[in-house]
This record gives sequence, structure tokens and C-alpha cells, in this order.
Amino acid sequence: MSVHGPLLCRLLMLLSLWIVPTPASGHPQQRPCRLTQRTALCNNSNLTSVPVGLPGSTEELQLNSNLIKTLQDDCLQYPSLATLSLACNHLEKLESNTFQHSKLLKSLNFANNNLYVSYQETGNALKTLPKLRSLDLSENTLDEEIAAVLLQNLTSLEYLNLSGNLLRRIDETSFGHLHLLKELDLQRNLLFEIDNAFDGTPKLQRLNLALNYLPCLTDFHMTQLVVLNASHNFIEWFISREDINDTFQIETLDLSHNKLLFFPFLPNTSRLRNLYLSYNRVSFYERLEDNVTFPETVEFYNLRNTTNITAKLWDDNLHGDISSLETLDLRGNQLWYFPQGFIRKMPSLSRLRLCTNCLESLNLTLEQFSGSLYELDVSNNRLKEIVADDVTLVTLGNLTYLNLSLNDLDCISSGLFLTLPSLRSVDLSYNNIGICLPEEAEASTGSGMDLKTTVSLRQLYLKGCNLGMIPPTAFSGLSLTHLDLSDNPMLSGQRSIQSLSSTLQHLGLGNTHIGDFDFSDFQNLKSLNISRNSLLRLPASILNLDLKLLDLRDNKLSTIPSAQANTLAPKLHTVFLTGNPFNCCQTEWFRTFETTKTIHVVGQSDMECTDLFQTHSILHSRLFLCQEENGESIFWYIILFASICVSLVGILIIVFLTLKPKVIHKSIKNKCFKPTSY
Ligand SMILES: *[C@@H]1O[C@H](CO)[C@@H](O)[C@H](O)[C@H]1NC(C)=O
Ligand SMILES: *[C@@H]1O[C@H](CO)[C@@H](O)[C@H](O)[C@H]1NC(C)=O
Ligand SMILES: *[C@@H]1O[C@H](CO)[C@@H](O)[C@H](O)[C@H]1NC(C)=O
Ligand SMILES: *[C@@H]1O[C@H](CO)[C@@H](O)[C@H](O)[C@H]1NC(C)=O
Ligand SMILES: *[C@@H]1O[C@H](CO)[C@@H](O)[C@H](O)[C@H]1NC(C)=O
Ligand SMILES: *[C@@H]1O[C@H](CO)[C@@H](O)[C@H](O)[C@H]1NC(C)=O
Ligand SMILES: *[C@@H]1O[C@H](CO)[C@@H](O)[C@H](O)[C@H]1NC(C)=O
Ligand SMILES: *[C@@H]1O[C@H](CO)[C@@H](O)[C@H](O)[C@H]1NC(C)=O
Ligand SMILES: *[C@@H]1O[C@H](CO)[C@@H](O)[C@H](O)[C@H]1NC(C)=O
Ligand SMILES: *[C@@H]1O[C@H](CO)[C@@H](O)[C@H](O)[C@H]1NC(C)=O
Ligand SMILES: *[C@@H]1O[C@H](CO)[C@@H](O)[C@H](O)[C@H]1NC(C)=O
Repeated sequence: MSVHGPLLCRLLMLLSLWIVPTPASGHPQQRPCRLTQRTALCNNSNLTSVPVGLPGSTEELQLNSNLIKTLQDDCLQYPSLATLSLACNHLEKLESNTFQHSKLLKSLNFANNNLYVSYQETGNALKTLPKLRSLDLSENTLDEEIAAVLLQNLTSLEYLNLSGNLLRRIDETSFGHLHLLKELDLQRNLLFEIDNAFDGTPKLQRLNLALNYLPCLTDFHMTQLVVLNASHNFIEWFISREDINDTFQIETLDLSHNKLLFFPFLPNTSRLRNLYLSYNRVSFYERLEDNVTFPETVEFYNLRNTTNITAKLWDDNLHGDISSLETLDLRGNQLWYFPQGFIRKMPSLSRLRLCTNCLESLNLTLEQFSGSLYELDVSNNRLKEIVADDVTLVTLGNLTYLNLSLNDLDCISSGLFLTLPSLRSVDLSYNNIGICLPEEAEASTGSGMDLKTTVSLRQLYLKGCNLGMIPPTAFSGLSLTHLDLSDNPMLSGQRSIQSLSSTLQHLGLGNTHIGDFDFSDFQNLKSLNISRNSLLRLPASILNLDLKLLDLRDNKLSTIPSAQANTLAPKLHTVFLTGNPFNCCQTEWFRTFETTKTIHVVGQSDMECTDLFQTHSILHSRLFLCQEENGESIFWYIILFASICVSLVGILIIVFLTLKPKVIHKSIKNKCFKPTSY
């Protein structure tokens, strides 16, 4: 059960390498340890026991990633020791008097060991540290009984890490005596039930329950909690207690990757700012036609009792206090509408992520988003239209990132936003906006595509939009740094892009039939995608650019002339070249790229080339059969060799026949002229 153990250990090793030792004057330097002030760093030194003879004033002792199995009585002779770290050893036992000379210990890290083995004795040792504040017991194969023994008397603990163990069920006895606990990490256990487990920890502020098997969180009443992470469980219900007048201190609630069907029943009053609900099945139901037949009461069972919780499940207004929300992440759910006034209840909402839901329309006038909206992602829904009047658009003055990709929008809906004053990035990819653009443009200005866009716009994504003719002035006046027009095979009028030549850094023209496009003016271009364009040769105009990324996949290149390769190789960091019919006999460019350390040729093993006879992986240059540069070729050698062989054999046969005609004669006779009896 050490899923992340090795990684942690490696990290610790790295960390230990980072720390530069300052020679400790006066103290004799212990061989495997480096001393920096009052800290002894003995990480990763194959130690099997705690080193002796370190300065008596040592306050911190780091022994991570060693081979220590037991901490023996009296092994810690350092009365000032406050911090001891033994992560990633083979610790099985702490003898009862381990800490008798180190009573000031405040922080112990035993992450990634085997403390489940002799836990009774280890528990006795820990009992002697009533001042301990921080304890890391993560990744020690502990179940709840063992954990209880280890934690028996540690009433001063403020930080406890039990992640990556085998805890299944906890109740009020588990942590009931840890009255000062502020942070508890229980992620990566097997928890399926937490029965009032936190009633005795009134100071708990950060609780991590992620990656367990919890089926629900009901009767939530931890008013002091600030961060609760319950992501990656099987939670179907989150219900807060209603009869509490106090303001819940919760600021961050992560319920992502669960099985929620309903929007969580949040506390009546809270400071909740970040609510993560991505990848659940959340929907609203009041608008369902047949909702009357659904029950109103849910019964919850646990091992001890059954509770009935009556909630008006189908009432869309019972989601509690969302008035402080700033981030609401609802990606990957099943929302098809917002209850009346839902959006209006979040006056500070700044990030709303609704990617991959079932929204069919969005009426911004109706919903009344707040002016603080900064990021709106409604990509991958079924939006046919977005409605907004001018007044509404004026209020969206802070909207900066907008993602509308993968919907069914037409150009009128999607063009709405392009005048917003703060807009920097718009993704309209994979909508059907191309068809109506020229029409609308003609009707309005006669100058072509009517992207009456705001000057603040920097990134525009128009992939797969069925774009046709782009008028020459389409982008004039804009200072785009990113433009992606890929996957518009009918695209024409690429010259319009020239007006962006001084600002563009990323240009996507994959699958657009670009032909002989001249890139020489795009002096700031860093990334260029010209894949899937049937290019027979590399456009010479890109050689003068300072490109870092170049995508040339799926073209018709047979080679890259050496001069061009030599120019490109030192500049490029990433190049994509798969899917081209390269000629094995002209792959000098590949050696150039291969030997340039700063360039990453993506998918090298998938790159192929063809020689005189067959197709090879471009990496196997020894197999290529090619014509040499001086005109001769292995092929001709082979033919020459073959003909010499044939002649030799012929000569041999003739010689043989002349020398031994009789033998031949006989054998022919024997075989072909069998004596017949007539
Ligand atoms: C440890 O706690 C138990 C009760 O949980 C108590 O009886 C015992 O005296 C405590 N021992 C020490 C050493 O504090
Ligand atoms: C608890 O321990 C795990 C594994 O050792 C670590 O990844 C995690 O960050 C720790 N939790 C906290 C809150 O420090
Ligand atoms: C909650 O825990 C998961 C799993 O460890 C982690 O990926 C996620 O970032 C955490 N959420 C927050 C809000 O920190
Ligand atoms: C909390 O809200 C619910 C539903 O609106 C209400 O029934 C309950 O009385 C409220 N509780 C308090 C303490 O105000
Ligand atoms: C909640 O507060 C109101 C007014 O402040 C008070 O009348 C009511 O009794 C309180 N309810 C509880 C459960 O404390
Ligand atoms: C669904 O139920 C709620 C109350 O339970 C009711 O107000 C609403 O009108 C119902 N919706 C329909 C479409 O019947
Ligand atoms: C819960 O409600 C059901 C149906 O209303 C009832 O039969 C059951 O006795 C209730 N259980 C408790 C513990 O109240
Ligand atoms: C959008 O909402 C406004 C305000 O409620 C309403 O007047 C308008 O008719 C709605 N538009 C559509 C297309 O539903
Ligand atoms: C717009 O966003 C910025 C940065 O997030 C923020 O400081 C500012 O208060 C916001 N403006 C409004 C009107 O909410
Ligand atoms: C927009 O959303 C789509 C789908 O969710 C995503 O693939 C794309 O990267 C997003 N665009 C931007 C600019 O972040
Ligand atoms: C280049 O554009 C194509 C679409 O034609 C896309 O599939 C590919 O991922 C893009 N390349 C990069 C490096 O983003």
C-alpha cells in the first residue's frame, strides 16, 4: 500500500541534495550527516541506525530514505531535538523508551514505513510525547485499531497525516481526544463511514477525505472547517444541518469526482468561495414534468443507526448560501437549466466552468451574471443560442476568458461577446459559424467577415468552424497573439492574416490548404501548425523566423534540404513530422535533428521512410538501401554480383560437361531412357 511512497522518497532525496551544507565550525562532522546550524541532514545514506555523536544541541534530525528498522531505547541522545524525520525507512518498531531523552519533540515524520508491525510498543513510545504537535503516519499500512493505539495520548496534536493507510471506519472515539487538531489528512484510505468522527475536534480547519469510499456526507455541521476535500469518493448526497445559526467558516469545498445527483445542500450561511463539483451527475429537477411521483425523504443507514432526513429534494431553491462563491466548477455534469435566480445569488462569481453539460440555451439577460465574471466556460454543451441584450453585455465588463467551443452556435450568438471590453481569449471552435459569416458581413459593412471585435482580444480560436472566404480586412485593427484557424478545409483568403503579422505568436493553419503562404513578415511567431496541408516542401519563408514549435505532420514532404535543417535545428524546441512520405536516401536532415540536443522530434519511432525496396522506421538507417552520392549504388553492386555469380555457375557447368561427358550421358540415360522391354 505505498502508492506514492517511492515518489515521495525520491522527492525527499532531491530535497536533500538541494540543501547546501555550511561547515559547522567547532563540531566534528559526522560522516553520513551534514550539519547546517542545528539541523543534521542524514538523508539517503543507507543508515541502519540513528547516528551517534551528533552535536548535543541538534534540534532537527533528518533521516529520510535510510534503512532503519527499529528505534532503540536511548538512541536519541539529543535533549533539544524538536523535529525528527524518518520518512521512507523500514521502521517497524519504536522501543518504549526511545524518546526518554528527547521530551521536547514537536514534530515527527514517519511517512512510508511499516509501523503496523509492533504498534503496541510503538504506541507506548509515542505516549511519552504529550507535547507532540505534528505527526505524519502516512503510508504505514495502519487500520483504525492500530491508529487508535498509536494516537492514544497525543492530545496536543495539531497536524496529523494518516493518508495512504487502511482505515475503513472512524467514529467519535477515533480522534475525540485530539481537541487541538487543526489539520487532518485521511486521503487514500478505505473509509466508507465517518460517524460523528469530528465532534471532538472543534479546531479542525483542514480535512482531506479524498480518494476513499464514502457514500454520503449528511448532517454536515463542522462550522469551524475551512477546507474540506471529499473528492474522488462515491458520494451521492451532501447535506448540511439546517438548524445551525452560526456562519460556517468553510471557504473551499471539493466534491469533484463523486456521484452527486443533486446540487449539494450547503449550509444556510457560509463563506464558501470555491465549490468544486466537477464530474458528478448534478442536475436540477423542478422543471421535470413528472416530479410529483418522486419521494421527498431519504433514509441513511450506517452500522449503528438509521436516520431519516427529510429534504424537499425537488425544490431547486434549497442549495443553501452561495452568496460568497467566486469559483463554481460544474464541469462534466448534467445541467440543462439554472433554477430561477440561481446565478443572481452569486454576486461575486468570477469563474464559472460548465464544460460538458447539457445546456441547450443560455439567456444572459434572464440569468443576470455579476459584473465580476472573469471566466466563463460553456464549451461542449448543446447550446444553439446565447441571448443577451445590450444592457447585459455592458455589465459583463470583466469577462476575460470565454470558451464556447463544441456547441451548435451560429455566428450571431457567438459574435455577441466579441465586443466585450476586457475580453482577451475566445474559443469558438467547432461551432457552425462559418456559413453565415460572409452574408452578415456583406450586409453590415461590405468589407467581409464581421468580427467587430474588441481591441483587447489576444487569443482567437476558430478551429473547425466551416469557415470559407475570409475577407482581407477581417482581422485589421486587432493585435492577436494567438490565432487558430485549423480544420477549416474550405478556408480561403489567408492573406487577411497578414494584418496580424507583427503580433502573432501562435498560428494554427492545420488542414486549411494554405498553399504557398508567405510567413516572412511574422517575425514574432513562436509556434506554427501547418499539418495536414499536402505540402511537398517546407515553406522557405519560415526559415527566417524564430520558431520554437513547428507542426508539419501529415504532409507530403519527402525530405528537408540540409541547409534548411541546419537553419531550423538550433532554433526549434519541438517539431512534429510524422505522417510524411520521407525518402530514406535523403535523411541527412534527420541526423541533424537527432544530433541537436535542444530539439525534441515528437514521435520519432513512428516516422517512416521508403528506400528502393521498402518502408522502414526512419531510425533504422542501417537497413536503408540507397544509391550512393557518386552515382553508384548497392543496388547496382547487387546486380553486378548476381550476374557474376550466374556467369560463374554457367562456366562451371560448361567445364563440367566438357570434362565428364560420359557421366552425364549415363545419368541422362539412366533417368530418361529407362530400358523398355520391347
Ligand atoms: C493515556 O491516556 C489514557 C486514557 O486514554 C490515560 O488513562 C493514561 O493515563 C494516559 N497516559 C499518559 C502517559 O498520559
Ligand atoms: C500527507 O502525506 C502524504 C504522503 O506522505 C503527502 O502526499 C501529503 O501531502 C501529506 N498531507 C499534508 C496535508 O501534508
Ligand atoms: C483534493 O484532493 C485531490 C486528490 O488528492 C486533489 O487532486 C485536489 O486538488 C484536492 N482539491 C483541492 C481543492 O485542493
Ligand atoms: C436554514 O434554511 C432552511 C431552509 O430555508 C430553513 O428551514 C431553516 O430554518 C434555516 N435554519 C436557520 C437556523 O435559519
Ligand atoms: C437562530 O437565531 C435566531 C435569531 O437570531 C433565534 O431566534 C433562533 O432561536 C436561533 N436558532 C437557533 C437554533 O439557535
Ligand atoms: C415539481 O415539484 C415542485 C415542488 O415539489 C413544484 O413546485 C413544481 O411545479 C413541479 N414541477 C412540475 C413541472 O410539475
Ligand atoms: C424513516 O422513514 C420511513 C418511511 O417514512 C419509516 O418507515 C422509518 O421508520 C423511518 N425511520 C426512522 C429511523 O425514523
Ligand atoms: C431572455 O430573458 C429576457 C428577460 O427575462 C426575456 O425578456 C427574453 O424574452 C428572453 N429571451 C429568450 C429568447 O428567451
Ligand atoms: C474584475 O476582475 C478583476 C480581477 O479579477 C477584479 O480585481 C475586479 O474587481 C473585477 N471587477 C469587477 C467589476 O468585479
Ligand atoms: C475550450 O474548451 C475545450 C473543450 O472543453 C478545450 O478543449 C479547449 O482547450 C478550451 N479552449 C481554451 C482556449 O482553453
Ligand atoms: C495542429 O492542428 C491539428 C488540426 O488540424 C491538430 O490536430 C494538432 O493537434 C495541432 N498540433 C498541435 C501541436 O497542437
